Amino acid sequence: MATFAAKYGPWALITGASEGTGAEFARQLAAMGLNLILVARREAPLAALAAEISEKGVECVTASVDLTASDAAVQIIAAVGARDVGLLIANAGADTNGSLFLDNDIANWEALVAMNVTTTMRLAHHFGQAMRARGHGGMVLVGSGACYGGLNGMGVYCGSKAFVMNLAEGLWAELRHHNVDVLNLILGRTDTPAHRKILKESGQPIPDNLASPVDVARIGLEQLPHGPIYNWGQPNDVAGYAPNSPDDRRARIVMIEKMSAAYAGKKA
Ligand SMILES: NC(=O)c1ccc[n+]([C@@H]2O[C@H](COP(=O)([O-])OP(=O)(O)OC[C@H]3O[C@@H](n4cnc5c(N)ncnc54)[C@H](OP(=O)(O)O)[C@@H]3O)[C@@H](O)[C@H]2O)c1
Repeated sequence: MATFAAKYGPWALITGASEGTGAEFARQLAAMGLNLILVARREAPLAALAAEISEKGVECVTASVDLTASDAAVQIIAAVGARDVGLLIANAGADTNGSLFLDNDIANWEALVAMNVTTTMRLAHHFGQAMRARGHGGMVLVGSGACYGGLNGMGVYCGSKAFVMNLAEGLWAELRHHNVDVLNLILGRTDTPAHRKILKESGQPIPDNLASPVDVARIGLEQLPHGPIYNWGQPNDVAGYAPNSPDDRRARIVMIEKMSAAYAGKKA
């Protein structure tokens, strides 16, 4: 634990920290002695988590920021101030639009791109520079199996997560020479409040095989030194969710569309 804090401390910045995987990252990092900067929109759950975490003897700062705002990264950097961020966890990034591309306002798709692409990139740039200069640190960019190809009603989300994967791979290549670890933690379906809400709104049952946020945070932190990619639940020596040929890619789209028939049907 002391080694972890020495490499990735003294402060960790977590986006989407008010619930689910983000809150679990916060709890587990606090238990390892890292101070935390917790970012989300809603102040009340952030304050409650900060109070819980402060009892573990670490410092905790909250920042209510909408990651889709054009100045989100500026706001976060201002909230961080002079604190040394040794670990960036870019966790928030689900698609809550729940519709086909053409059936939603373009502003909502732009907001998703702003959160997953622009804000993520700006945070990685700002805090990555400081980590490189300091000679240690880490980044966990939380991704999705959606990154491996477009899917019905999820084209923008898939594209944004493909960006995150490619950014993580590029950063991993750059920063490994500076003792900075980068991991794209590519998740499958996970039991978060946000995912439960999507399932409820689309009339789907809660599957009994969702990953738990506790496991996601624990395994994500364990995998951090072994980037650039970890595919949830998959060994590192198999292709996992990644199809190659055009035929394979087409088959994947159709297969997942059938698997999510209820969700896709609602969207259509
Ligand atoms: N759950 C799954 O099944 C699943 C599957 C694959 C990948 N993932 C990935 O795992 C990550 C976490 O997913 P999740 O299911 O927990 O949903 P999420 O909506 O990405 O994360 C929820 C957290 O993010 C915050 N948040 C959401 N939108 C925000 C915004 N515009 N500005 C600031 N904070 C915002 C929420 O707090 P506030 O509401 O207070 O802002 C909450 O703390 C995402 O990157 C997602 O793509 C999830």
